This record gives sequence, structure tokens and C-alpha cells, in this order.
Amino acid sequence: MCRSILFVCLGNICRSPAAEGVFLNLLRSKNLLNDFQVDSAGTGHWHIGKPADRRMIKAAEKRGIYLPSVARQILIKDLDEFDLILTMDNDNFETVKSLEKSLGRIANAKIRPMLSYSKKTQCLDVPDPYYGGERGFDDVLDLLEDACKNLLNELISRN
Ligand code: 4NP
Repeated sequence: MCRSILFVCLGNICRSPAAEGVFLNLLRSKNLLNDFQVDSAGTGHWHIGKPADRRMIKAAEKRGIYLPSVARQILIKDLDEFDLILTMDNDNFETVKSLEKSLGRIANAKIRPMLSYSKKTQCLDVPDPYYGGERGFDDVLDLLEDACKNLLNELISRN
């Protein structure tokens, strides 16, 4: 049974904090907050200890979504402590897969692209909004709201 989910991107200040906040918001709306453990992490270390990017916070606030994350870097033990690790793009996916390889065995966590749960796009990469304009943050949220909704439906129907 999948009860713990880690969302992963590069910096852990834009996409994975947004995914975490969107998913928490969905859980709250369905009274399921106590049934899941949700967190986010980055493959990089540059922003450790920082809140989400203020542009991402602002875009999420407009949809009534709160982003609680404080950036941290993914740890090898996350691969066993979580049931599911959802990566935002192929670089993150390959990095987490190489961490699994360094474990020398199959990790507890299933590692999947976040957008494998999307019904709106065939693309598996959530575009990195960090160096772009405001619109990019809204686009990220559109993709994540769709993927998180399908993810939760799948988890609920499986249990
Ligand atoms: P994220 O976006 O991976 O969605 O958090 C980025 C944030 C910061 C950087 C790159 C991507 N950076 O190069 O500092």
C-alpha cells in the first residue's frame, strides 16, 4: 500500500514544493491528510534550508495552495523510507535511479516520472520555471494539479 510519497526536482524550490503543496491540498480536501506522508527534496544542494521560490509561492497562493516546504537534498535513505518517489524531469529521474544503483539492490520506493500520471500531456518533463517568466509557474501548477489528481485517484482505487 502506498502511503508515503517524495516529490523530487533539481533545486527543491519550484516544482517539487509545488507538487507537494498541490498533493497536500488535495488530501486536505478529501480528509486524507492523516493517511499519507508527503515530502519533497532536490537532487541539488544549493538551496538547502530555503522556502519555495516566492514566484512559485505567489502562483500557488492564487489557487489557494500553501507550500510548506523547506528545501533539502535527497538522501539515500529516502529510497527505502518512502513508498513512491516522483521525479519532475528526466534528469531528476536519472539521478534518483543512479542513487538506487549505488544501493546495490532494488529500493523500497518505486521511482516514477510525475507526469506519467498526467492525462493532459505525453511529455514526461515538468518544465523548469526558474529562469523564465511568471507564466511558467502557472503552467507548472496546471500540469501538477492534473497529475496529482490522477495520482490520488489511482492510489485510492488501488487501496
Ligand atoms: P526546481 O527549479 O528544480 O523546480 O526547484 C530550480 C531552482 C533553482 C535552480 C534550478 C532549478 N538553480 O539552478 O538554482
